[in-house]
Amino acid sequence: MAILNVRKYGDPVLRRRGEPIREVTPEIRQLAADMIDTMYDEAGLGLAAPQVGAALRLIVVGDERGRDPRALVNPAITAQGGEIVAEEGCLSIPGIFAEVARAEWVQVEAIDLDGRPVALRARGLLARAYQHELDHLDGVLFIDRLDPVTRDRIKRRIKKEGLSEVAHHAFAL
Ligand code: NI
Repeated sequence: MAILNVRKYGDPVLRRRGEPIREVTPEIRQLAADMIDTMYDEAGLGLAAPQVGAALRLIVVGDERGRDPRALVNPAITAQGGEIVAEEGCLSIPGIFAEVARAEWVQVEAIDLDGRPVALRARGLLARAYQHELDHLDGVLFIDRLDPVTRDRIKRRIKKEGLSEVAHHAFAL
C-alpha cells in the first residue's frame, strides 16, 4: 500500500494529455492499486493518473458509497445523455466547489486490469465522477467548465488565498 502525493492546481502535469496505455503491466496494476489507496486516504470518489503525476490514461472510481473501486485503462465515453447541474470539487483543487453541468448518464468503454475490454453504464453521481476523471486525462479541470465570470472569481480567490490544506468533502473527485 502506498499513498501517492496528489498534485495540486498549478502543477503542469494536470494540464498534460494522458498517453494511452499500450499494455497492462505489473507497474500499471501497482499504480492503480496505489491510486485506489490514495483516493480513499483523501476521501475522494475518483482519481485520475495525472493527479498523481503520471500522464497516462488510467482512472479509478469508487461506487457511490466509496466501495468497490474499479480501475479503468484507456477509458472513453461512448454514449451520454441528459444534463444535471450539481456541486463538484477536485482533490487537486482543495477547498473549491462549484456547480457544474454534466451529462446525467454515460456509457464508458475501457480495458480492465486484466487487459480485457469492459463497458459500463453509470448515472447521477457516478456518471459525474466518470466525466470528471476523463476530463483529467485530457488536461481539463472542472473549473474550465464553469462560466467565465465564476471561473475568474475562483482563480482570483486561489491567487489571493491559496488552496485549502484539506480537501475532505463528499464530492471531491
Ligand atoms: Ni479532480
